Amino acid sequence: MFSIEINQDQPVSDFYHELNQLAEGLLSAEADPIAGMANLSSFLFQVLPDINWAGFYLVKGGEQLVLGPFHGQPACTRIPLGRGVCGTAASENKIQRIADVDAFSGHIACDAASQSEIVLPLVCGEQVVAVLDIDSPIKNRFTEGDEAGLCRLVELIQDNLHLSKLY
Ligand code: SME
Repeated sequence: MFSIEINQDQPVSDFYHELNQLAEGLLSAEADPIAGMANLSSFLFQVLPDINWAGFYLVKGGEQLVLGPFHGQPACTRIPLGRGVCGTAASENKIQRIADVDAFSGHIACDAASQSEIVLPLVCGEQVVAVLDIDSPIKNRFTEGDEAGLCRLVELIQDNLHLSKLY
């Protein structure tokens, strides 16, 4: 099994290089999307500093997001496409990196502790099939460096998990 110890004090690009190497190990061992997302949620929750929620919402029926594997407090189970940070990321197929969730009109507060958030769409073919959502209890938690590292993680997810089995 892999170790989940990562030196969190190194430069952000080095941190994500290491994180993504470990994630690739996890992903290459299991292609089932739910199993892979479950392990990744646990992994991200343990290795990312200053976060309080990490997980996935899955696009169902082309009209809403339904809660998928995650770590953190219980969360809202259904989000219409176009609503909240997650629904916006999914409907626009665009990363949402929100420095202050209170300044995002329509933010859905699942955990009152969340102050900032990043949501990245996962695409299969031309379709957004899920989003990766990470929340932090501090404002301005997610930098451009975090976004770049997590974009690479999303590529690994798309390349390794059988996302077409989600719908
Ligand atoms: N804040 C999200 C809802 C999901 S929770 O953060 C886990 C949103 O506005 O879509």
